[in-house]
Parts: sequence; structure tokens; C-alpha cells
Amino acid sequence: MKIAVIGTGYVGITTSVSLGELGHELIGVDIDPEKVKKLKQGILPIYEPGVESLIQRQLAAGSLTFTTSLKEALPDAEVIFIAVGTPSLPNGEPDLHYVEAVAREIGTHINDYKVIVNKSTVPVGTADWVRDLIERELERRHVKVEFDVVSNPEFLQEGKALEDARHPDRIVLGSSSQRAKQTMQTVYANVNAPIIHTSPRNAEMIKYASNAILATKISFMNDIAKLCAHLSVDVSEVAKGMGLDQRIGPHFLRAGVGYGGSCFPKDVEALYALGQSAGQEMSILRDTQRINREQPGWVIAQMERELGSLKGKKIALLGLAFKPNTDDLREAPSLKLLPLLHAAGATVRATDPIVTDPVKEQFPKVGIAADAYEAALDADAVLLCTEWASFLKIDWKRIRERMKGDRVFDARNALSIEKVEAAGLRYWGVGRKG
Ligand code: UGA
Repeated sequence: MKIAVIGTGYVGITTSVSLGELGHELIGVDIDPEKVKKLKQGILPIYEPGVESLIQRQLAAGSLTFTTSLKEALPDAEVIFIAVGTPSLPNGEPDLHYVEAVAREIGTHINDYKVIVNKSTVPVGTADWVRDLIERELERRHVKVEFDVVSNPEFLQEGKALEDARHPDRIVLGSSSQRAKQTMQTVYANVNAPIIHTSPRNAEMIKYASNAILATKISFMNDIAKLCAHLSVDVSEVAKGMGLDQRIGPHFLRAGVGYGGSCFPKDVEALYALGQSAGQEMSILRDTQRINREQPGWVIAQMERELGSLKGKKIALLGLAFKPNTDDLREAPSLKLLPLLHAAGATVRATDPIVTDPVKEQFPKVGIAADAYEAALDADAVLLCTEWASFLKIDWKRIRERMKGDRVFDARNALSIEKVEAAGLRYWGVGRKG
């Protein structure tokens, strides 16, 4: 099938290459000429394991192309994915003006049946609104062209997008007609996953509710972890015991410094705003957000308690990205920890396998180290903020030899207590003590 994907951000690119892997012919569209120029050369604007080599392979095979012209991309495409950004407005609602511009342009140029698919995370009712926008453009042109709008939300996780695309838990297809449903079935014919056929409005809500419950699970466990700390209980053991209950499930129960990224914070806020506009106060979402907002401050308060004070202390901060295997710093907990550490009088030397320059620009006082061993030189304490695989394989004896102090703060509950303690270091975790 010939498919156009509009928007070459994180969602657009990963969608394009994974649809390409299913054997489709893809054309990626973006208004940014610089981005398109680089993509044509196989240079990726984001870091996502495995994606760059796939782009290069698909470019070489001629099954993937990029353009800045939507008008050029439309005639051949049977299916058009909208994967443009939906950033938050000051009131928490998503800004849909990119979606609106794309919908109008589609209406201006289509001349035969198309299935238009919403991949961007958008409020309930957006598929209907996109349909209206396109219809209005067609009326303005005095032409009759058939088309359908489908909601097909994205469930890929940054850092493991390709794995998620190959083995999704489910594919949600909110189609408004039998014809669109059949077309979408052909798009995903080669994926072995349950398909939920539903209405566009249901699909839109499935996406928001899924992200909101995952964020809520994390905040719930962060609250439990604080209680565990108080009662000398190990929250990791609690999570293990809870997770074996199939009704609860083992995932997203890891307590830590809070969730970040471009999705959970934005989507929880948008769902709350959706509730507000319907006259419903979704207080559970407010608590999810409050706990997440307070978590970095709680971690710092615990460090202060354990170390006496952070004044004049040297902290080695391991990890800056909001999670491993990505260069994404959006809403990263590290960006909340850094000002708190500075305000408490600590000096920080940070390290991350991928992302350091933007942090240095934002926080010029932060020292940047090449690796954990350099960061730990003369440090009073190590603070793990992102659980990159390389940090999980650290030689703690080597770290101990370089440090002045002996404290390891694991703000992701990701390290082996035994390994840290075997090196003569003292371990602290979020609701988890050595
Ligand atoms: C999230 C969802 O997991 C995807 O299904 C969805 O497609 C995506 O948002 C989106 O809406 O586009 P992502 O933001 O890439 O994916 O990252 P996650 O792996 O979900 O992690 C989010 C944050 O939660 C990270 O900061 C992570 O460190 C944190 N987290 C995750 C925890 O603190 N504890 C956990 O147990 C799991």
C-alpha cells in the first residue's frame, strides 16, 4: 500500500519505518525543509535505537521518501496518517492548530477516496472535527470526494519503539465506515496482534485513559514507597508481590523520582482538562500529578536527611534523559532535580550516554563528565536518575575508590543493593533500604 505520514517527529518517524517494515511504501511529509533534507540523507533528528539503520535501508530500497509538499504526497497515497505535534496550551488542553492546518490542506488537495488516520494524541471528538474541516474545504472547492477519518492511537514507548511496533499488545482502530475498517485491516495485515475495532471517539478515549492509568500506577507506587520508607518496608518486594496478581500486572509499578516525557504529563493534564470542560472534577488525576510534582523534592529531602545537609556536597548525577535509550529531555526528572540540588548548596557533575549539551546550556553550573567514573571523582554521593543499561553494569568498587563519600542514592530503584554494598558503599532507594 502507498501511505503518507504527515509530521516527522518522534511518532511520525517511528510510524513510517514500522509501516515500511510491514511492506508498505511510505512518504514522510514535514514543513521543515532542514529536517526533510537530513531525513533524505538518512540522518535522524531523534535518537531511537534501530530506527536510523532502518530509514537508511528503506531509503536505499526506494520504499521510503520524504518531502515538504503535502500536495505532492497526497495523490498516490491511499492512507494518510496525521502524526503532527499536539503540545499543551496554558490551560492544559492540547493545541490542535497543526492538526487543523493539515486537515484543511488535505481537504484542499484530495481528489479520490482516502483514509485519513489520526495518530497524534487528540481529545475525544477530534476525528469528527477533522472530518468537518475536510468537508468544509471540499464544499469550498465545490467537489465531492469520499473519505473517512480513523482514530488509530499510538502506544509506542520511546527507547523501544521498534520492539513495540513489531509486537504490540493491541491495535486500536476507531473507524467510521466498513470501507475504512477494511483498509486499516490491510495496513496492519502483517502484524500479529489483537485488533480492537471501535468508534473513533472510543479509540480517542482509550489512548488518554491508557496513559492516565499508567501514570496513576506510577504515582500510586511512589506514594506507597514513601510509606514503605517510613515503615522500613521494601517497595520493590511489595511491587513484585502485587504484580503477580494478573488483575494488577507487573508493569509500571516501579517507584522512583516520578514520570517524565512528552506524553504522560501532557496527557494526564489534557484528560483532566477534558473532565473540567464536561463539568467533572477528576481528582484522581490531580493527585497523580501532585504526587509526581512532589517526588523530586521528596528525594532531595531524603538525601539531605541522610547526608546531614547538601551544602557544599559534591553529587555525581547519573542520567539526564527522561528514561533510558532516548535523547528526550522533555519533562525529565533530572531537570527538576538539578535546580533543587543547586538550591540546597550542592555542586553537581552529571553524565548521560547521549544527552548532555542541552542540559549544560540550561544549567551552566553543572559539570559534565564523560562517564560515571569521571562523575564520581571526589563525590560525596552518587545519585542515579536514569537507569541506562551502562549504569546498571557499573563496577562499584571502581566508583568507591574514586569517591570521597560512600553514599549511593538510587532514585530509580534500579540498582542491585548487593553489588553496591559489596563495594563498601551505602545504598538508599525510593522506599527501599540497603
Ligand atoms: C508512554 C506510554 O508508555 C506509551 O504507551 C505511549 O505510546 C506514549 O507514552 C505516548 O503517548 O506516545 P513513553 O512516554 O515513551 O511512553 O515512556 P514510558 O516508558 O511510558 O515512561 C514514562 C515515564 O514513566 C518515564 O519517565 C519512566 O521512567 C517512568 N516510569 C515508568 C516509572 O517511573 N516507573 C515505571 O514503573 C515505569
